[in-house]
Amino acid sequence: MTISRQEAEAHYLKAIEKKLCSPEKATIFYSKQVLDYQLNLLRDIFPANTKHAIAIKTCNQADVLAHIIQRGFGLEAASFEEVLLAKKAGAANDQIVFDSPVKTISEINKCHHELPGMLLNANSLEELKRYPKNFNGHIGLRVNPLVENAGGTFFNVSTANSKFGVPITKRKAIIENCIQYSEIDCLHFHIGSSLTDLSPNLKAITTMVALAVEINKLRTKKGIENKIITLDIGGGIEFDKKTMREFVAAMHQIPNISDFNLVTEYGNFVHKHNSFVASNVEYVLSNDDSLPELVYVHVGADLFVRKVYSNLNANYPCSILYKDKPEENAALQSYNIVGPLCFAGDILFKDLKFHKIQEGDTLFIFNTGSNTLSMWSGHCSRDLPDFVFY
Ligand SMILES: Cc1ncc(COP(=O)(O)O)c(C=O)c1O
Repeated sequence: MTISRQEAEAHYLKAIEKKLCSPEKATIFYSKQVLDYQLNLLRDIFPANTKHAIAIKTCNQADVLAHIIQRGFGLEAASFEEVLLAKKAGAANDQIVFDSPVKTISEINKCHHELPGMLLNANSLEELKRYPKNFNGHIGLRVNPLVENAGGTFFNVSTANSKFGVPITKRKAIIENCIQYSEIDCLHFHIGSSLTDLSPNLKAITTMVALAVEINKLRTKKGIENKIITLDIGGGIEFDKKTMREFVAAMHQIPNISDFNLVTEYGNFVHKHNSFVASNVEYVLSNDDSLPELVYVHVGADLFVRKVYSNLNANYPCSILYKDKPEENAALQSYNIVGPLCFAGDILFKDLKFHKIQEGDTLFIFNTGSNTLSMWSGHCSRDLPDFVFY
């Protein structure tokens, strides 16, 4: 489900009329209905014993987080600050998964004393040494299953020297630590983001289930009652309804998987399509007749950090709401959409074709729900865009 151009225009005009947003800066609109649609897919397609902890880093807006919690879903925190955001949103401790790779001793102790019941996934064997005995919550161990995937330089975290998790090449040490720290009751992995091929994640789950089964057998042999009961399979898949069904069906085929409760940490899938940005066109300038005209809007690299700084192939469809409707057969012109920031690279789109754009028209940018406002850069100290959760 996505937001149509007509729906976006109607919401924008209503918000302008109600003075919920101003043409002085950009406004981010976020649809509750589309969020619910995505959440319902997770709830309806995954097994009932799955806890979905939605990744806060992907969209950290208070109203959105509170809605996710009200709907009975959990939240995944990538920092202690995000743990506090989850609490502010009304999360019970057992709805929070805390995953930072640099948890400090004092953060771990705060979780132990003040936030009992959370799941903390230790990123390394070193981190395990920081947990107090009888830790007041669940401890997971992040394992890097070393599964090749298409996440590329930025998002493939399942490489040999990745900073995330204990590589599966240290299998013996992982098992020994799971015997020594018998409080560990969860194994966790996350191999990468923006993945459309389901097979690397399925391969990783197969590896992790086999590891958990082996640890549990050894614990039984040694008279250790506590078992690995949970597999946290991270996020990273760009599902649609069909591929989610296929993924879950394939997961059911993995031997012994039904012995474990599942936790997921999807972010991009949940948020991406739920939002659009509207910005007044402040200026349209032509520097050279043979080059695209420049359309100046109120957001640039500050909101679209990944797109501008990383050259990632981020797909953000655009449209224009014209003050004066162009004639049907009017010619298309070429435009570069540029942001307000003080550096030459602050260009959002190059060579887009539109009917003639003028000052006071409105630019809409779609599919902006994930990894935009939560990555706001603050460059040039501009105010954050307004946020409307409708
Ligand atoms: C540990 C972990 N879990 C979940 C996510 C969310 O991934 P995505 O938004 O690709 O689903 C990330 C993303 O970086 C992550 O690092």
